[in-house]
Amino acid sequence: MSADRKKQLAAAAAVEYIREDTIIGIGTGSTVNLLIDEMAARKLRIQGAVSSSEASTARLKRHHFEVLELNDAGELDLYIDGADESDRQLRLIKGGGAALTREKIVAAASRRFVCIADDSKLVDVLGKFPLPIEVIPMARSYVARELVKLGGYPIWRENVVTDNGNQIIDVRELRITDPVGLESKLNQIAGVVTVGLFAQRPADVLILGTESGVQTLS
Ligand code: 5RP
Repeated sequence: MSADRKKQLAAAAAVEYIREDTIIGIGTGSTVNLLIDEMAARKLRIQGAVSSSEASTARLKRHHFEVLELNDAGELDLYIDGADESDRQLRLIKGGGAALTREKIVAAASRRFVCIADDSKLVDVLGKFPLPIEVIPMARSYVARELVKLGGYPIWRENVVTDNGNQIIDVRELRITDPVGLESKLNQIAGVVTVGLFAQRPADVLILGTESGVQTLS
């Protein structure tokens, strides 16, 4: 079975978590795109969505879903988003699509975070996927030097500007055995906007598409 088909299974299963006439948070990426399409195909009636990226906003609007500002929406019941990696405690690496800052904000503002992915994303130890870090442009080289001191191998994701006007560094060679501690440590570096580690606020539910159907971890 292809990865896309597995993503489709996870996205379809996540629709069951959405209650009609509520405001939900919507993440970013190919799995979330399938979710948005599935919501539209099922003619789901929601009050609106708070989006984590310009790309998801455009897709939601194309399907005639109302997109609301987080400042107007208050606390959200539910946030659904993909991930680049998850461990079994549902701590995540995110930001492959450069939307990590708004994703982290909407996840923080939501009571429940449902993560959807194909089963290749489940790992024993986080860090095989390069860790994305959003940085203020003028701090890029400084942050990169600090990351080297921590044993990482930072690479500037050239030609990518985030929705917030910032840049992305991808950090390779990190074996992340203490995700909560590392998230705190990296957050302290001046110029770091957001670390793509979602460990202090992990997912509450992980829905994986697998060869044999959907597997749910919580
Ligand atoms: C975007 C993200 C995505 O959730 C992550 O990259 C997974 O994407 P996909 O669903 O395409 O595999 O964090 O910033």
